[in-house]
Amino acid sequence: MKAISVRNISKSFGKRLVFSNFSHDFPLEETTCIMGESGCGKTTLLKIVMGLEQADAGSVMMPEDLKLSAVFQEDRLISHYSAIGNCRLVSTKNKDEQIRRLLLDFGLSGSMDMQVKKLSGGMARRVTIARCLSAGGDVYIMDEPFKGLDSDTKKQVMSIVRQKTEGKTLILVTHDQDEADFMGGNMLKLNPPALDI
Ligand SMILES: Nc1ncnc2c1ncn2[C@@H]1O[C@H](COP(=O)(O)OP(=O)(O)OP(=O)(O)O)[C@@H](O)[C@H]1O
Ligand SMILES: [Mg+2]
Repeated sequence: MKAISVRNISKSFGKRLVFSNFSHDFPLEETTCIMGESGCGKTTLLKIVMGLEQADAGSVMMPEDLKLSAVFQEDRLISHYSAIGNCRLVSTKNKDEQIRRLLLDFGLSGSMDMQVKKLSGGMARRVTIARCLSAGGDVYIMDEPFKGLDSDTKKQVMSIVRQKTEGKTLILVTHDQDEADFMGGNMLKLNPPALDI
């Protein structure tokens, strides 16, 4: 099977054992939703997959030529840049016109040229998702992307994400079963963290 293959990962932070001999295959070109209680290691797992956190043992295998694009748990926007400026920074293919269309679809028509520090939390979150989609790529990794969005906005944003990542690999963390059901695909439920060692 073609997959991003997490093999026998162990990871501790001090005495906190987050993963012990954990393995999972994320099928390529499919969606996987990761769920699990706060602190169980969802963000840590994504960071290990992206190579931003080092496992103590084990390995992650994926085809070398895959381009990754991420929504982190926190926005990580350039606060004094506009929405369009933030998207432009990472976008190699999309022209301004295409970025503007995406931001428009995300309901940001009146605010795409404003500095993102002047936007509401939910608006900034939408810019973060738009930036990820603008970057394009083969693998989209999204850590609670829809947090802070009201239900109507969330529906609209979720359908755009679903449509734009169709046929790509999407690994998405959520606490919300309805979100997971809407996004479809595979489900990975992580166990609560082990007791400290
Ligand atoms: N850099 C770090 N230093 C120390 N401990 C860490 C670090 N990163 C994560 N942890 C610990 O590892 C555990 C898993 O954290 P992680 O952020 O992966 O959880 P999570 O499942 O994403 O939780 P949430 O749903 O709250 O985002 C937690 O106990 C956390 O305190
Ligand atoms: Mg997290």
